[in-house]
Amino acid sequence: MAPRILIFDSGVGGLSVAARVHEAMPHVSIVYLADNAAFPYGDQPESVVIERCCTLIAVALEQYPCDAIVVACNTASTIALPHLRAITEVPVVGVVPPVKPAAAQTLNRRIGLLATPATVRRPYIDQLIGEFAADCQVERVGHPGLVQWAEGLVRGVPVPQAELDRAVVGLRDAGVDTVVLGCTHYPLLLDNLKRSLPGVKSWVDSGEAIARRVAWLLAQVQPSVDVLAEHDTSCTPVVTALFSGNSPVGVAGFMMGLGLQPRAVIGNWPGKS
Ligand code: DGL
Repeated sequence: MAPRILIFDSGVGGLSVAARVHEAMPHVSIVYLADNAAFPYGDQPESVVIERCCTLIAVALEQYPCDAIVVACNTASTIALPHLRAITEVPVVGVVPPVKPAAAQTLNRRIGLLATPATVRRPYIDQLIGEFAADCQVERVGHPGLVQWAEGLVRGVPVPQAELDRAVVGLRDAGVDTVVLGCTHYPLLLDNLKRSLPGVKSWVDSGEAIARRVAWLLAQVQPSVDVLAEHDTSCTPVVTALFSGNSPVGVAGFMMGLGLQPRAVIGNWPGKS
């Protein structure tokens, strides 16, 4: 049987990760679970994020047994991973802002770190910078608008470019040549970000690294299946999308724009029992 993985986020940001996973492993089926009833996680107390994340993922695994779980949300990954690992044997992959590869790519040793306000103030960001980018000037921007603008794209609402320009002006003034996308929603805004910061040479997100990690994990659990083998599955619907709130209007078309064919889109999941 083709492997199946669960990709979790608070909203549509994790679809940017799902797109990279699907590109690398087109026949792996994906259950995409978004806790959009509680979006954005950055505004929730940590205990709520841990509770919701663990409960929803546990219910999803009962309904859709999976070979690996990807917490495609930096905000949830920083606090919920140990709790999640305690309730399931299924391997869990989390995301961290890719500071290490950014430090390897910057030429002028000036890096911008874009993340949610909750993520930029977490102590593990200081640890990441101290460990991998101690010789760099790291300019942090934690802005609440970006995730909202990324969610708006699904409904066809254009990104307010002038507001985005203002949100990232600190990175322009600091002359960064590399930007870490420390939130999975931000790759969805890449075209607009490039317009705001034309001087940036490298944009670093976590998608490909996660796809590599998932491929490695699946090879451990199903050594007989070559997950990276070539398959023509461009038209195969591989993604079942579950939303804890209403399913966002336009999400099926948005997914197709990312190369993800939805098999089903289910809102208000799992419903009342
Ligand atoms: N995609 C989530 C992340 O990577 C969004 C955060 C939120 O819901 O606040 O952090």
